[in-house]
Amino acid sequence: MSHHTADATRLSVLDFAARKAHREKISMVTCYDYTSAQVLNDTAVDTLLVGDSLAMVMHGFDSTVHATVELMALHVTAVARGAPDKFIVGDMPFLAARKGLGVAMDGVQQLMQAGAHSVKIEGEKGQVELMAHIVDSGVPVMGHLGLTPQSVHQLGGHKVQGKAEGEARALLDSALRLEDAGCFALVLECVPSVLAREITQRLTIPTIGIGAGPHTDGQVLVLQDMLGMNPVFKPKFLKHYANGHEVMSQAVNRFDAEIRHGCFPSAKESYR
Ligand code: KIV
Repeated sequence: MSHHTADATRLSVLDFAARKAHREKISMVTCYDYTSAQVLNDTAVDTLLVGDSLAMVMHGFDSTVHATVELMALHVTAVARGAPDKFIVGDMPFLAARKGLGVAMDGVQQLMQAGAHSVKIEGEKGQVELMAHIVDSGVPVMGHLGLTPQSVHQLGGHKVQGKAEGEARALLDSALRLEDAGCFALVLECVPSVLAREITQRLTIPTIGIGAGPHTDGQVLVLQDMLGMNPVFKPKFLKHYANGHEVMSQAVNRFDAEIRHGCFPSAKESYR
């Protein structure tokens, strides 16, 4: 049956652990829509993150604070339809895990029933028990420490975290508690490379870095960022793998020019 075929090629939580054990890197990229999911389904990338960064990248908000469970579930559904062979992580959005067990579990249920294979939850303080409960309920949980963008107003901006020694120790302790809670992997965002290396060495679960240097067990980038869709957005940690803005605007400008010059549609694109 066809759903068994996808299961055979798709990564599972067990593969994440195996990758770390065999020192094989894990690749993850964000994905928010059906068309991109179809393209990514045909790539070698290991896993797709329906990140709450979609509030900014897809909807133009100034932070991820504006994402809701309903919005996340809508995007997860589209990605799951387009990428049946990929392991999908669905982000629990702002405050979704902070309003008590029932509300949190309703959110988890919505994301999983939308087609996610796991959920990602930012932070550690005050929610370790909840995360353990989600894991015990049969739902894989990915942690997220360092720069946790849902706390941007508390952090005072999108800044590198864990630079001071006390902060670094606290981050390591949080990472160890998330591993104890049963997280299968941990995103480390915008932390110094040496700290990411230490956390990676101390944990048995894989770390997936963004702005965390080369020593993490995997890497993640926002798809539109790595495709260079916004040529002026170039933080230090980002690498543009394409000139996406140029490719798209050139194609649309050519289309526009051909319409003006009467070259499109030609006989070839017209019905007799
Ligand atoms: O929402 C997101 O895109 C993320 C990644 C940056 C890790 O959480």
